[in-house]
Amino acid sequence: MEDRIEFLTAVGHITDDKRQEFILLSDTLGVSAMVDLVRHRRPEHGTDSSLLGPFYRNGAPEQPLGASIAGDTPGETVVLRGQVTGAHGRPLADALLDVWQAAPNGKYDIQDEHQTGMNLRGRFRTGVDGRYEFRSVKPKSYPVPDDGPVGVLLRAQGRHPYRPAHIHFIITADGYEPLITALYIAGDSYIESDAVFGAKQSLTVGYHKSRAANGKGERAPDAIEFDFTLAAAAAQPPSQRLRPARTARPAARARQSRRRRHAI
Ligand SMILES: [Fe+2]
Repeated sequence: MEDRIEFLTAVGHITDDKRQEFILLSDTLGVSAMVDLVRHRRPEHGTDSSLLGPFYRNGAPEQPLGASIAGDTPGETVVLRGQVTGAHGRPLADALLDVWQAAPNGKYDIQDEHQTGMNLRGRFRTGVDGRYEFRSVKPKSYPVPDDGPVGVLLRAQGRHPYRPAHIHFIITADGYEPLITALYIAGDSYIESDAVFGAKQSLTVGYHKSRAANGKGERAPDAIEFDFTLAAAAAQPPSQRLRPARTARPAARARQSRRRRHAI
């Protein structure tokens, strides 16, 4: 018992505004994946959810479709494109994609003093046809921070700390449930043994290779093409629908607050 209290105390001591060891502990124990599975059952024909992870930052800049989130980050360019739809394939215009990823050196901006600003983060709104497109650099697999108590636990279990290469998304649209998910790169060495149990086959994507459309036979950047399908927002229970607006507002605020806590 004392050992467990000491372990949790160490998890608390190493946690600060840039490092969240409690989320990492939950992730590496598989608790986060289990909660995600229970709370976000895959809707029929909807896109699977995946873990938020500890590196999300609110407030990434909104950029025009086609822009790059990579700045001057060294790495191989990749284009991500596809469509956001609702039920029955209806394109969702003005859906917001909040995207973030680690640099090819395996570090997120908040872990790396050489990355400035909101590097490798951006927000994009779908066009009237529901389509999105942006550029980035190809992600690589990376180890979760293992120089603290979570690392001790992983080694005691004989486990490696690596996550397969991936790109995170939060997608929101009016009238639809927010989708927290990620795309995982096929062929990654750690796709079958993700340290935080987040990778899913339905979210695994390959790179499409093509020629540039300039007639010179040059190679265009590799592309990832993936369509996201959102689930309609759950209807309010009749008991809440019948309530006067004055009493319904605090309930709505509480729901928003719960969602925000989940997204930290
Ligand atoms: Fe990640």
